[in-house]
Amino acid sequence: MAQRVALYPGSFDPLTNGHLDILSRARRLADRVVVAILENDAKTPLFSVAERIEMIREIVGSDPAVSARSFKGLLVDFARETGASLIVRGLRAVSDYEYELQMALMNRRLSTEIETVFLMAKEEYSYVSSRLVKEVARLGGDVAGLVPESVERRLRAKL
Ligand code: PNS
Repeated sequence: MAQRVALYPGSFDPLTNGHLDILSRARRLADRVVVAILENDAKTPLFSVAERIEMIREIVGSDPAVSARSFKGLLVDFARETGASLIVRGLRAVSDYEYELQMALMNRRLSTEIETVFLMAKEEYSYVSSRLVKEVARLGGDVAGLVPESVERRLRAKL
């Protein structure tokens, strides 16, 4: 039988425990999950794409069903290239909904074969975002428990 592949796309700058929670849920829906990091020239990230891939591999690399790759261009094209039939996105609060709905409907218009599914992370991560984690870390606050330890160490080294 054909394997069900899910793409979990995003910026992951850096990966948070909320992302990890979504990833473990996505893992239950698909045989393989590809974490897809957008190479976005419009943004100035804290971590390079190579660093983000390395961090994700460090954390989830022991699971052969999870891989991390970068992509450029349209997400649906990358989904076709990887054989993915699902796009997984995490939803935290109602405020995420509008942006996510727009993307899901645009992706559906671009490809009817790929379905977007939204997953909810544990409530304790509902306020966690990469942007806020970076801000707190930059200002000397404690981000323990919000990101994996290796990400915490890298944040400390970087900031
Ligand atoms: O975590 P982010 O930064 O909100 O992720 C956004 C991402 C990478 C999922 C989105 O920007 C994306 O899919 N970009 C690829 C370009 C694309 O396919 N655009 C058209 C459909 S919305």
